[in-house]
Amino acid sequence: MVQICRVQSWFVGVTPLLIFATVLHQGFATVAPPTPAPHKEPGRPERGYYNVTNHNGTICLMAYMGLQLNISYNSTSQKKVVQDVMNLQPNLTKHSGLCDSDIASLNLTVDAVKTNLTFVFTMNSTSNKYHLSEVTVSAAWPEMKEPVSVHNSSLDYLRGTVGYSYFCRDEQTLNVAQNLSINTFQLQVQPFAVKGDQFGAAEECQLDEDDMLIPIVVGAALAGLVVIVLLAYLIGRKRSHAGYQSI
Ligand SMILES: *[C@@H]1O[C@H](CO)[C@@H](O)[C@H](O)[C@H]1NC(C)=O
Ligand SMILES: *[C@@H]1O[C@H](CO)[C@@H](O)[C@H](O)[C@H]1NC(C)=O
Ligand SMILES: *[C@@H]1O[C@H](CO)[C@@H](O)[C@H](O)[C@H]1NC(C)=O
Ligand SMILES: *[C@@H]1O[C@H](CO)[C@@H](O)[C@H](O)[C@H]1NC(C)=O
Ligand SMILES: *[C@@H]1O[C@H](CO)[C@@H](O)[C@H](O)[C@H]1NC(C)=O
Ligand SMILES: *[C@@H]1O[C@H](CO)[C@@H](O)[C@H](O)[C@H]1NC(C)=O
Ligand SMILES: *[C@@H]1O[C@H](CO)[C@@H](O)[C@H](O)[C@H]1NC(C)=O
Ligand SMILES: *[C@@H]1O[C@H](CO)[C@@H](O)[C@H](O)[C@H]1NC(C)=O
Ligand SMILES: *[C@@H]1O[C@H](CO)[C@@H](O)[C@H](O)[C@H]1NC(C)=O
Ligand SMILES: *[C@@H]1O[C@H](CO)[C@@H](O)[C@H](O)[C@H]1NC(C)=O
Repeated sequence: MVQICRVQSWFVGVTPLLIFATVLHQGFATVAPPTPAPHKEPGRPERGYYNVTNHNGTICLMAYMGLQLNISYNSTSQKKVVQDVMNLQPNLTKHSGLCDSDIASLNLTVDAVKTNLTFVFTMNSTSNKYHLSEVTVSAAWPEMKEPVSVHNSSLDYLRGTVGYSYFCRDEQTLNVAQNLSINTFQLQVQPFAVKGDQFGAAEECQLDEDDMLIPIVVGAALAGLVVIVLLAYLIGRKRSHAGYQSI
């Protein structure tokens, strides 16, 4: 948790304030107007471990995430284009993959719902960074008039540094095509340079950092207030002391 550590020492002093600020923040968040419910809401998907093993038996890609597919398709029964959201159930999802020096792929297959996904990560050895560069999804759900098959090889998501894992606590949407997107939940992935069977230190996504910014700003404001009140009190006390001595 590289990014968190940076602010941790600062946190210690203002922890009670921060808790208060967080509660405040959550309080505000619940006040926000409710958004209209989409066609189907399957709830949060369960997180699954998807490790890819090299030919020599070492783990070369690690992923631990919840996945949700959001597909628009022409429905047979409704005779119109509908938008459907489906969670990937880890215990029904088979995984495989391949690792090479600068490319790594993860294939997920859910036979029960006739759905296949492929994620391809590319490494740039000059900059020592990786990103999700390619996604392929094919789905042949019973309701679909025709199977949906999308492929996008010009993506740039989940950017991380080689040797570190990419982590996003918040829900993140990966737009693959106009009629297909993937929502990720508490995603942690490391496509390159896995040491042993553990994730490397996590690089947190921008979304999470933005989330932390509000409590930090509110906490800092409250800390400032406390300092001002304290100063006012101390000055006031000094003044009244001076007053007594002059008599
Ligand atoms: C397994 O192969 C990878 C490259 O394909 C190499 O980096 C790693 O050291 C090998 N591990 C063992 C235990 O041989
Ligand atoms: C699914 O995608 C549609 C259109 O892209 C969007 O309006 C909707 O909010 C998405 N639903 C979810 C649950 O992500
Ligand atoms: C989804 O979009 C792709 C192009 O973005 C198109 O080729 C495909 O036919 C669409 N599929 C459906 C079911 O709408
Ligand atoms: C959906 O399928 C119906 C026939 O079942 C067809 O008339 C209609 O044009 C299709 N809609 C789209 C957007 O492809
Ligand atoms: C998969 O998990 C779900 C809930 O997590 C459970 O209801 C279901 O029975 C499980 N299915 C199998 C085949 O283990
Ligand atoms: C992964 O899926 C792609 C298609 O998306 C396929 O070409 C490839 O052979 C699959 N790889 C494995 C290891 O299953
Ligand atoms: C790799 O990164 C370097 C330095 O950031 C950049 O100049 C180069 O275009 C990148 N290569 C690719 C294939 O993206
Ligand atoms: C998913 O992949 C398997 C094995 O490669 C294949 O048999 C199946 O037809 C694919 N399903 C879809 C919906 O593309
Ligand atoms: C692939 O994804 C990029 C980024 O989301 C998008 O700009 C582009 O239109 C997509 N390509 C296709 C064929 O959908
Ligand atoms: C993947 O690796 C993690 C960490 O070592 C482990 O906890 C998990 O059980 C593994 N999952 C699978 C399916 O191999």
